[in-house]
Amino acid sequence: MEDPPKLWEDAVARMTRRIEDTARSVSAGFPHLGDPETGAWTLSANGDWTGGHWTGMLWLLVKTTGAPRHLEWARRWCEALRPRAASNTIFRAFLFYYGAMAGHVLMGDARAREIALEGARQLARAYNPNARAFGLGAQAEEASDVGAAEASIDALGPLCALLARAADEQGQASLRDAARQHALSHVDFCLRADGSICQSATFDENTGKVARRYTHKGYAENSTWARAQAWGMLGFALAARYLPAQPRLLEAAHQTADWWIARVPADKVAFWDFDHPGIPHTYRDTSASAIAAAALIKLAALTKQRERAGRYREFAAQTATALVENYLTPVSARDSRAPGILTEGCYNPRLNLAVRHELVWGDYYLFESLLALCGKLNPLLL
Ligand code: GLY
Repeated sequence: MEDPPKLWEDAVARMTRRIEDTARSVSAGFPHLGDPETGAWTLSANGDWTGGHWTGMLWLLVKTTGAPRHLEWARRWCEALRPRAASNTIFRAFLFYYGAMAGHVLMGDARAREIALEGARQLARAYNPNARAFGLGAQAEEASDVGAAEASIDALGPLCALLARAADEQGQASLRDAARQHALSHVDFCLRADGSICQSATFDENTGKVARRYTHKGYAENSTWARAQAWGMLGFALAARYLPAQPRLLEAAHQTADWWIARVPADKVAFWDFDHPGIPHTYRDTSASAIAAAALIKLAALTKQRERAGRYREFAAQTATALVENYLTPVSARDSRAPGILTEGCYNPRLNLAVRHELVWGDYYLFESLLALCGKLNPLLL
């Protein structure tokens, strides 16, 4: 095995090249799903739920290189997200946290701040104070299947981060209050007693009482979909970071992280659902492991007990190393694919959609993790 820091630096260089090639070749729309053989991107016209991850990667690039062309790209895609402030989906949190707030936080970009605050203000209007939670919203990716008022763990982290930062920027405590209630409700909605996460829940819109828990994208109704666990880890870590007065959120972050560490395969890369009966003969989801790595790095920085913090950091480092060594092109001396593609992401096997692909959010969280591991990014900034 190569010395890890050098391996991570080299991976950052490969990913940087991939991001640059993508930015040069895409003129309209947002990179969404990549073909791992050709490197060709399926684009989303308006950013879907993933345009913020693409734009966030550009902000990370600007932060590390300071190159004017990187800034120009980040600003261009950030501006293209602006109309989405009005779209009725909880996944606006992904768009405006990574796509815009990151530009303000990392670079002090005034226009990115304006766009982030507009996204946060409009998102906050969707809060249901009776249920103390945000539902998916009618334009959310899942809403056509499960309904607009359902709960989902997926966007918990960026929602807390976006609203808490916007509350501070604008002196508007109600945004932070909504984030806090939403996070605490999701302990109730999605966290099982053993520390695993159930992706989705139906709740009473007048009381917030849970009527049913289920997994929308996983193998079975009660299974643990790998990305739900990873989104939960990231969600509670970011909630704990931005809402530090709530010890239950840090405890939830520890529970979900410990569950992941105890159950992920020895090679650190999750299969797409922890309960799939075909394991090991089913798909991996590298994007879930990339999200988990990013979450563990943040959690390590938030955890006061040294041994525990060290364990999280070490597990994150091993996860990032495994992703780089085995899944980031080129994965062998004979691999002639474009460098810097994170392969074997699994979007939605229920629809047979992009099950062994490059997924732009997987790229984002691996890139963020590598920059943090290389000491180029304070993991608690984002
Ligand atoms: N809904 C976000 C995801 O598919 O992970």
